[in-house]
Amino acid sequence: MVRPGTGRRAPRRVCDDGEVNEIQRGELQQQTFYELVGGEETFRRLVHRFYQGVADDPDLRALYPEEDLGPAEERLTLFLMQYWGGPRTYSDERGHPRLRMRHAPFTVNRAAHDAWLRHMRDAVDDLALPPEQEHQLWDYLVYAAASMVNTPG
Ligand code: HEM
Repeated sequence: MVRPGTGRRAPRRVCDDGEVNEIQRGELQQQTFYELVGGEETFRRLVHRFYQGVADDPDLRALYPEEDLGPAEERLTLFLMQYWGGPRTYSDERGHPRLRMRHAPFTVNRAAHDAWLRHMRDAVDDLALPPEQEHQLWDYLVYAAASMVNTPG
C-alpha cells in the first residue's frame, strides 16, 4: 500500500547474489499515491466535481461563507494534493492544516456530514479509478469526514 505524504524515496541499495548494488535513480523509486492516481489533474477534477455538487445543494451551500466557491475549491484541492504526497503548496500558503480547528466556525452536524460525503462520492465515482486506489481514497474521506463533525444532531 502506498502511504500518503511520504514523497519520493531515496534510491535503495539491494542485495543481488550477495552483492550490494546501487540502483540507478528512478528505477525502483516508489510512486506516491498522488502520482499513482494521476497527480494534480486528478485532484483538480475530483474537487471541481465535488464543488459543483455543493453549489447545487442549498443546505450545504449555506455553510460556505464566500459568495465565490473558487477559493474554497482551491484550498481543498491543495490540501488533498499535499496529503497524498504531492506538492506542499497548501501548507506554504495556509500553514499547518489543523482541519478540525478550521471547521470549528461551521456547524458540521450529521446532515452536513452526509451531504458532504454524498457529493464527494459522486466526485470519486467520476474519476473511475482502479478499485484499490478508489477504496484507499474513499476510506480516507469517510474517516476524515467523521472526524470533522463538531455538532450533535
Ligand atoms: C464533514 C463535512 C464537511 C463540511 C460540512 C465541511 C465544510 C467546510 C467549510 C464550510 C469550509 C470553509 C470553506 C473555505 O473557506 O475554505 C471548509 C474548509 C475546508 N475543508 Fe471542509 N468540510 C467537511 C469535511 C472536510 C474534510 C473531510 C476535509 C478533508 C479531507 C475538509 C477539508 C477542508 C479544507 C482543506 C478546507 C480549507 C481550510 C483552510 O485552509 O481554511 N473538509 N470545509
